[in-house]
Amino acid sequence: MNNICNKIKKKNKPNDIIYTPHQVVDYHLSLLDLNDTYTYLDPSYGDGVYFNKLPHKKEWTEIEKGKDFFEVNKKYTWVIGNPPYSILDNWLKHTLTICENFSYIIGIVNLTPRRMRLIEEAGFHFNIISIVKVPTWFMRSVIIVCNKKKETQQILYKDFGNRCLYCNNPCGGMRGKNIKHCKRKSNAKVCSY
Ligand SMILES: C[S@@+](CC[C@H](N)C(=O)[O-])C[C@H]1O[C@@H](n2cnc3c(N)ncnc32)[C@H](O)[C@@H]1O
Repeated sequence: MNNICNKIKKKNKPNDIIYTPHQVVDYHLSLLDLNDTYTYLDPSYGDGVYFNKLPHKKEWTEIEKGKDFFEVNKKYTWVIGNPPYSILDNWLKHTLTICENFSYIIGIVNLTPRRMRLIEEAGFHFNIISIVKVPTWFMRSVIIVCNKKKETQQILYKDFGNRCLYCNNPCGGMRGKNIKHCKRKSNAKVCSY
């Protein structure tokens, strides 16, 4: 019975699986101070778009592949990725116990004052907050870069434009009956028109 309950609790909600375009991952990683001596965890591997771009001392977890982030108790220099939004409170709480630095991309409405307080009360500072507009994603996102050193805070904005980052077709803004629009849903694996 306990096993069944656990499986249901760990089941992904529809907006928990979102595939990050590699251009967004490149931008995200360009904000971070990464080097080969640090250790890294991509806690929400998906198809490995973050993991594959991290320096070599790295590990991952992915519930769909039988590795649960909540079972990690090792410490890492960095925890980096795009977490599942439906369990963000517990996800953040666990993150705060296993790293010196972390950086996540989340929906802008998910960065609530309560969660910001939770992060700061655990001794982390917000060093970078970058608002990001990703075409085909339903709302603005925000990349947060947090660590235990207090540095000058940077607020950035990055606009990836109005073309789908997967197929390069317009997905907003440009209108006209000869324009093929991409209507990809953020949790879909392929574009649709
Ligand atoms: C928003 S998706 C991001 C996927 C990928 N990192 C990307 O950016 O394309 C979140 C991922 O977290 C995974 N996930 C959900 N709960 C998890 C858990 N408890 N442990 C590890 N991974 C989990 C989901 O299966 C999903 O693949």
